[in-house]
Amino acid sequence: MKKVLIFGGDGMLGGELAQYLNREYDVYTTNMENLDICDKEAVINKVKEVKPYFIINCAAYTNVDGCEANYELANKVNGQALENIAEAAKIVNATIIHISTDYVFKGNLSLDKSYTESMETSPISAYGKTKLLGELNVQKHDKYYILRTAWLYGIRGKNFVKTMLRLSKEKDEVSVVLDQHGSPTSTTALCKIIEEIMEKEPEYGIYHATCEGFTTWYEFTKKIFEIAEIKTKVNPITSAEYKKMYPTSSNRPQNSMLSKEKLHNIGIYPEKYEEALKEYLKEELK
Ligand SMILES: NC(=O)c1ccc[n+]([C@@H]2O[C@H](COP(=O)([O-])OP(=O)(O)OC[C@H]3O[C@@H](n4cnc5c(N)ncnc54)[C@H](OP(=O)(O)O)[C@@H]3O)[C@@H](O)[C@H]2O)c1
Repeated sequence: MKKVLIFGGDGMLGGELAQYLNREYDVYTTNMENLDICDKEAVINKVKEVKPYFIINCAAYTNVDGCEANYELANKVNGQALENIAEAAKIVNATIIHISTDYVFKGNLSLDKSYTESMETSPISAYGKTKLLGELNVQKHDKYYILRTAWLYGIRGKNFVKTMLRLSKEKDEVSVVLDQHGSPTSTTALCKIIEEIMEKEPEYGIYHATCEGFTTWYEFTKKIFEIAEIKTKVNPITSAEYKKMYPTSSNRPQNSMLSKEKLHNIGIYPEKYEEALKEYLKEELK
């Protein structure tokens, strides 16, 4: 069995991935309490101890608005720490799988187009800038897969779907942004993509890894309520209106639509976002 070392093994994705891969791989995990990925010596020692075939980095500073206020810490975790992981991977000749984000793009692409992996990055938020530095640092090692995902939700973490389900119990109406476009992606759907990448070991590089299909936060909320049979009214608001309500919130790309053509070309077809949502809600609403 191939050895896999997961950094961020207690996170929303990392926790589920560790369990998911456990059937086919010899999985080792670290978490915030026992290993800070910013500690270069600790990262190198752990990697030398485990000697993994794959290193999967799910650790990150993921509070998007918090990154604006805590840029330095976010940059260390999301950006600089990836240099430690790249250096450690080189020592044992491991392949890195690193999770990145749609927020590396500016999001001003016309809405009849989606972003491909080779398009210019130009983040408009602190989170996006720090994650982009992480991508650049991962590429200091030759053997890497950078998987850009988006709008992630899963059973183990705080996320948009859970927030909407909670708000629906507290309010008769919710206001949700209408003019940001992307692909909600369940951690389960992403685990499947990651496992397929590990099995196929395609050409190293960057891959867009979200569910299939595009929507807006507003339409997605309507879909959540439809499947969960919730009557709460959903009101559309613009990003500008949202920003007025929450002035310290981070800027977010309007077009976050990621093309999956490169994934299709290697025979990987992610789940449709509606199907992944149904599966998730079945579990969440049990
Ligand atoms: N959530 C999304 O919508 C989304 C969208 C696109 C991409 N992504 C990317 O997907 C990946 C997984 O995200 P997620 O939603 O699963 O995040 P998450 O639940 O916040 O998990 C991240 C984990 O990293 C840990 N961590 C933070 N700083 C660390 C450090 N210095 N050393 C070691 N561990 C540290 C966190 O611990 P604490 O909880 O104790 O801080 C947490 O357990 C991340 O790379 C994220 O950038 C997420």
